[in-house]
Amino acid sequence: PWKMEITGNVSQAQTCNSGSESSVDPYGFERHQDFEPYKEMMNEYVAVLNRRSMRWSKLLQEKPHVEKNLTVKRYVRKGVPNEHRARIWMAASGAQEQLESNPGYYKSLLAAEHDGKLEETIRIDMHRTFPDNVLFKSKSEPSLQRALYNVLLAYGHHNEAVGYCQGMNFIAGYLIIITKDEEKSFWLMDALLGRILPDYYSSAMLGLKTDQEVLGELVKAKAPAVGQLMAQYPGIWTLVVSRWFICLYIDILPIETVLRVWDCLFYEGSKVLFRVALTLIIHHQPEILRARSLPDVCECFKQITCGAFTLDCHNFMQKIFTEPGSLSLTTIDKLREKCRQRIQEEASAQP
Ligand SMILES: *[C@@H]1O[C@H](CO)[C@@H](O)[C@H](O)[C@H]1NC(C)=O
Repeated sequence: PWKMEITGNVSQAQTCNSGSESSVDPYGFERHQDFEPYKEMMNEYVAVLNRRSMRWSKLLQEKPHVEKNLTVKRYVRKGVPNEHRARIWMAASGAQEQLESNPGYYKSLLAAEHDGKLEETIRIDMHRTFPDNVLFKSKSEPSLQRALYNVLLAYGHHNEAVGYCQGMNFIAGYLIIITKDEEKSFWLMDALLGRILPDYYSSAMLGLKTDQEVLGELVKAKAPAVGQLMAQYPGIWTLVVSRWFICLYIDILPIETVLRVWDCLFYEGSKVLFRVALTLIIHHQPEILRARSLPDVCECFKQITCGAFTLDCHNFMQKIFTEPGSLSLTTIDKLREKCRQRIQEEASAQP
């Protein structure tokens, strides 16, 4: 049976070592060249995790019900230990409340008659979801592929306007890895897609297109030189950041960093996605400004997501709350409205 051991020494992850050059991390991902830097980072991060873990246990002892207050917010920004992650995500996002007020709903979705086309689309993506994760291989016992399939199928029937589209498989996959529970993963999907993220996954993807433009506007204001560079290439924001937003940084940033971003995403909402993007861009301004062509820019936006800066998740998370400066929800709401209007006008102006 698989056990997530993240609070202990990371070398435990190597017990699942299958070959000399490939190792498996505590989430089941096979790691190749990047395992050494990851291990080195974890060996230092473990001290932080242990300290946070003790603080959290004390905090959660006081009250069984997790409320939202400034202390909890501060704690979330410093990272939720893995053993509390499912519980905190569930409480902070309202998913727990939904689960409790809809007993049996998830099971009933699975028991009902299914849309054959939806089933087929989901099935096609099964082997494309984390082929580098031992837990998702169809042969592994138990395979999380079954759970993944169920969660996506139930969600597709729950939210028929969205159904299924690519990107959702990765999100559901991460939720299953963390919660180890189909029903909780389903309600967390519902919180993310239905309440936290603005319309990223419907067929028109208006919310996604809007947020890409919003990021462009924020960059113009906070890193004008980069803004100018990007203005030379119309449509470039879609090319360089749509995957960042659609996959909520999965496979873009290292897994520990993604999970820390998600801690804040569930607690504070979608604003944190902009903080991450802005930090990556502002921090790497000199490199970006050296780009001389569209392919250069695209390559550079790939590079800035890798390396020590993003791997060191604890430091990175401190940076996202300082480096981009203030970022109010009012500003974002206004920009979203402005950009959404512009996109809709452009769409209707087209012949
Ligand atoms: C904030 O909420 C936590 C968890 O529910 C609780 O333990 C803590 O006492 C609360 N703090 C304040 C200042 O209310």
